[in-house]
Amino acid sequence: MNQDQLKKLVGEKSVEFVEDGMVLGLGTGSTSEYMIDALGKRIREEKLNIIGVTTSKRTARQAQSLGIPLKSVDEVDHIDLTIDGADEISSDFQGIKGGGASLLFEKIVAINSDKVMWIVDESKLSPKLGSFPLPIEVIPYGSQKIFDRLEKKGLNPKYMIDPETNERLRTDSNNYIINLHLHEIDHPHTLANYLINQVGVVEQGLFLDMVNTVIVGRQDGPEIIQV
Ligand code: A5P
Repeated sequence: MNQDQLKKLVGEKSVEFVEDGMVLGLGTGSTSEYMIDALGKRIREEKLNIIGVTTSKRTARQAQSLGIPLKSVDEVDHIDLTIDGADEISSDFQGIKGGGASLLFEKIVAINSDKVMWIVDESKLSPKLGSFPLPIEVIPYGSQKIFDRLEKKGLNPKYMIDPETNERLRTDSNNYIINLHLHEIDHPHTLANYLINQVGVVEQGLFLDMVNTVIVGRQDGPEIIQV
């Protein structure tokens, strides 16, 4: 199976955890797209009552096209389960997310969920975080000052570029993303604290102590890990 087939495998597997009546956080990215397609199918075929809380405009468009009823995070009492992709997962189940520029809403939805599930193909697993660039969302005003500070600190910042316009990418909240090319993150909690305390940083892409279940797409089938 290639990477895309593994993403489909875990996307389809994850919706087996969905029960009638649930409020579900719906992640963003290519793996989540497979999950949302499979969820739409289950809702249609089994006439399930599900409310979705989306993590991006892109996911909202897909869910709407499949007829999945949606509410915002502020309109629901709680979210039973959020299913989302991830960019990198360490052996102690810390994660980097936001490669698709949706980390802010992804984190808001995740921290308001009873349970969080990540669905990934096996290439996303690594002993230590850092091989995937760490995205941070920043307010445009003053962002160059943040960028310069991060550069001075040796954190190798680069603005995320929108491939369609070749300009700095704007998030759903109209902010910029700065990617930190770190290669290895020795102390994720310390780094997360430092980053979130920079004025103008809205959120950072380390998702720490947050996940309950990981489904890993492997050649011999999906592996379900309870964290
Ligand atoms: C979106 O901002 C990310 O957090 C995605 O969940 C992550 O990039 C995984 O994306 P893929 O499923 O496309 O690999």
